[in-house]
Amino acid sequence: MPATVASSASSIPNSRIRELAEVAMSMDGVLKLYFGESNLPTPDYIKRAAQKAMADGFTFYTENAGLPSTRKALARYYADLHQVEIDPSTEIVVTASGVQALNLGIRCMIDPGDEGLVLTPAWPNGSANIGMANGVVKQIPHVLSGNRYEIDFDALEAAVTPRTRMLLYTSPSNPLGWVATDADQRHLLDFIRKHNLWLMADEVYDRLYYPDGPARTATVPSILKKCTREDAVVVVQSFSKAYCMTGWRLGWLIARKDLAARATQLNEFVVSHAPSFAQRAGETALLWGEMAVKEMLLRLRENRDFCLAALSKMPGVKVPKPEGAFYLFPKIEGLTDSFAFCKQLLMETRVGLAPGVAFGAGGEGSVRICYAAEMQILEQAMARLSLFMQSR
Ligand SMILES: Cc1ncc(COP(=O)(O)O)c(C=O)c1O
Repeated sequence: MPATVASSASSIPNSRIRELAEVAMSMDGVLKLYFGESNLPTPDYIKRAAQKAMADGFTFYTENAGLPSTRKALARYYADLHQVEIDPSTEIVVTASGVQALNLGIRCMIDPGDEGLVLTPAWPNGSANIGMANGVVKQIPHVLSGNRYEIDFDALEAAVTPRTRMLLYTSPSNPLGWVATDADQRHLLDFIRKHNLWLMADEVYDRLYYPDGPARTATVPSILKKCTREDAVVVVQSFSKAYCMTGWRLGWLIARKDLAARATQLNEFVVSHAPSFAQRAGETALLWGEMAVKEMLLRLRENRDFCLAALSKMPGVKVPKPEGAFYLFPKIEGLTDSFAFCKQLLMETRVGLAPGVAFGAGGEGSVRICYAAEMQILEQAMARLSLFMQSR
């Protein structure tokens, strides 16, 4: 018998965002709104910090949990931003990206055959990572109530079995832009306490929060403010989005001590640790990044409002106003094959969007638009999309 790839590996589906992007990358002149990143480069002060770190000798192995100075900087950041106390020596693991934090955390929660609940539509990597741990994914779609997405707690209750180990939610959400309220988070905590589950909160977009009205300048609700340090809660985080550092591969986990210790140990066998000089640069990002984050929010708010106004004029398009992240997820009337739609749109207009089907249950029938690009690109993309929609 020839050697074969393990069925547990071959059963992991392709990322359909990637699939579309690969077609787009082979073409010229595409307006790229399919990936979750802005086209702004990493700010110079962060690049300089990495150069200095290399010059200062941060080119060696570090601790599996990350440099103590990076963990201390993260603890300080949480104290300033959310007024919560996190122990840098036992509750923080620096990872080589947000997706690696997801991977490590899930690996510590799921045994083969265990079940993980995932609130969807969601970035596919969470479900894929449960599959990679030989777990079974149960996706529970958000429900649209008026102009706001809500968590379907009845469906969550009905989905729990003796094999259920965890619940993953993303707030602010990719792709919905939905943000869990304080009440939502309290309800999620009650739910996991009642069923003895792990709660994994993907807060990678937590700095990209721009509600309207009196809460305009509020800090995003975080689960860490509501749970105790004994709760089975894990937060996944990243430097990618808030600091334009997607290519650096730097993130972190906040977790209950026992899981953090296990994740630290397992990290040795995966990547050992995040790159040393990137960790140092991350410290500088946390320390000096506030002004740039605020500027980015102003720009994103404008971009969101521009795209929302453009979409509202297109026939058969329905889109709730999101409060966070940098995505719009319009539902298109009568659409049953979002991949085919995105491919046709790409071929005919060179606008690259992500198909809703990529985001699991509740995603088909929509497309995801990342509005973190420059206004000039968004203007062209919306004009082309509008013509395309009129011609359908
Ligand atoms: C919801 C969500 N979580 C985690 C990540 C991981 O980010 P990174 O691996 O770049 O740190 C992403 C990236 O798009 C994301 O959208």
